[in-house]
Amino acid sequence: MAITELKRFPDGEGYVRIHDDLAGQEVVIVQNSYPDPNLVELLLLQDAVMEYKPARVITVVPYFGYARQDKKFNQGEPISARALTRHMTRFTTELITIDLHETSILEWSDSPARNISGMPAIARALKEYAPDFILSPDKGAVDLATIVADHLGCGWDYLEKTRLDGETVVMKAKKVDVAGKKVAIVDDIIATGGTIIRATEQLRDQGATYVMAACTHGLFTGGAIERLNPVLDGLFSTDTLMNSTSKVSVAVELADALQQKN
Ligand code: R5P
Repeated sequence: MAITELKRFPDGEGYVRIHDDLAGQEVVIVQNSYPDPNLVELLLLQDAVMEYKPARVITVVPYFGYARQDKKFNQGEPISARALTRHMTRFTTELITIDLHETSILEWSDSPARNISGMPAIARALKEYAPDFILSPDKGAVDLATIVADHLGCGWDYLEKTRLDGETVVMKAKKVDVAGKKVAIVDDIIATGGTIIRATEQLRDQGATYVMAACTHGLFTGGAIERLNPVLDGLFSTDTLMNSTSKVSVAVELADALQQKN
């Protein structure tokens, strides 16, 4: 592991310095693109690493911030996910990320880019709770739910969600086979918690006896953990973003991905 000095100037700007010679080496940089100061740190690290002329540089972005802004909704807006993808892949040999909200954004990469799944890690941690049903809160997370259900050998289904704005989601009524069951809702991100709260209401109304939630990226904005804890029987996230619910590590998945060279 290279010795890296990271600090902030009095005006808040970032400073990085790498104290080891990386010439000819295979270098892995691990940094999120969220919150914004981490993105700047990542770009500075890539520049500092490139100065050493390494053999390869792999940029690992466990939580890819801005990935949900993958469209231009109004004239004059950027496609933020495209902007970040382009900039983070300009000075790296490869980029690896986990449970990207919309994997097609990687098509904007300047270098090879891969999305890997954190769901095997979620499934490992879920074993302890022994759920007998896995639920995806919307169609977009069905692939995640099926990976977990396959690992645990249990049934799965999805609900139909419509997002009205950043904070408001509505769930269409849909029958799911959860009466008397212990259900785990899995999702890529929990942000405001609105999605999980609406899904939990539907599950309880349909007779689920136990409802918990697990996600890869626990953003938990604006007191989401405090809103979720009273309505859920359990809640955890991985360590792509550290918070009080980060129970499971995706280090194994990342190490495996790094061994499989592109
Ligand atoms: C969106 O489709 C994602 O998969 C998550 O369901 C969403 O980001 C969760 O957001 P929130 O917790 O604010 O409802």
